[in-house]
Amino acid sequence: MTEIITRVEDESVYRAQLSGKKIAVIGYGNQGRSQALNMRDSGLDVIVGNPRDSYLKTATEDGFQVKGISEAVAESDIIFYLIPDEVQKDVFDNQIAPNLKKGSTVVFASGYNYFYGYIKPDDDIDVIMIAPRMIGWGLRDMYLKDQGFPVLAAVGSDHTGKALETMTGLCIALGVLKKSGSIVMSSFKEETLLDLLTEQSWAGSILYTFRAYYEVVTELGCSPEAAILEMYASGELAEIADSMKNIGLFRQLRTHSHTSQYGQLTRGQEYIGEATKELMRKNAGKILDGTFAREWTNEQQTGQVVLNRTMQEAKSHPMEAAEHKLYKILQRGE
Ligand code: NAI
Repeated sequence: MTEIITRVEDESVYRAQLSGKKIAVIGYGNQGRSQALNMRDSGLDVIVGNPRDSYLKTATEDGFQVKGISEAVAESDIIFYLIPDEVQKDVFDNQIAPNLKKGSTVVFASGYNYFYGYIKPDDDIDVIMIAPRMIGWGLRDMYLKDQGFPVLAAVGSDHTGKALETMTGLCIALGVLKKSGSIVMSSFKEETLLDLLTEQSWAGSILYTFRAYYEVVTELGCSPEAAILEMYASGELAEIADSMKNIGLFRQLRTHSHTSQYGQLTRGQEYIGEATKELMRKNAGKILDGTFAREWTNEQQTGQVVLNRTMQEAKSHPMEAAEHKLYKILQRGE
């Protein structure tokens, strides 16, 4: 069974590992801001490396010393690499790699670039992954509430022989092991597969399942507003997700009526068969052999034509206008 760490015997051992080390958080966005604030509140010496943009202003306002990326890397021992995955390779090759000190540590929050070999730190660098299963603000919110959160973690390269201790110490400083949190020992490969296949299977298909439902019930004379409230705008979906987290996927059914339980259990599985799993296996294969990553790199280099087109298609669907109208009445949205 996978090793899951929920507490350590003696935190001081891990804190000692980080004593006197300077940490550079590269990128001050979703993850960067929360991780930097959590580690600073845990007593670590944190600076921020960022280009001159609005994120730099936020970091400065939060009281961090902010430097250019190269400069921040050059004076630090541990580098948290928290800029978007798609720009990481260029920035790493040009601004990070030339400035890394021998024996320093690079921390990734996703497996993508290291697993595919787009980023290859030298052999004298420790490489670790701490990939939160949590959006950025959630990580800060949990820390302030004294609650932990789950991360998938791995050691990619252990030049110093101390990478595991460093990783554990950093998790503690990030607040991972506060109440109900866990370090799930994983790998860069596993994290990449789980993350991308989520996006490319159940998370993506739920959007189009909702849209199909909308099309069918409005064909049958239901109002667009009632349909959108039924699916997600009421917030019931968030409550169900919370119950799944707290009591389990099928166990949460006990909070639904018997009619609902019967309908979900008998009809739900009609939509999912061997063909769905075959499609999942096919997309998993393309993730593991790098086909998807090459497709995505090519898409970025050729002006994101498919991304823009599919986003435009989604926005021009009648459901989008109905949602906009409803959210205006409910005083929600941008
Ligand atoms: P983000 O999109 O919030 O990053 C913004 C930051 O990146 C800003 O500081 C910006 O100045 C910097 N940046 C953007 N383009 C840049 C460039 N070309 N050169 C230098 N700096 C640039 O990124 P986010 O979402 O925090 O993701 C960071 C890492 O965390 C990624 O590896 C991602 O996969 C991972 N992750 C993100 C999660 C999330 O909640 N968004 C959840 C778990 C992991």
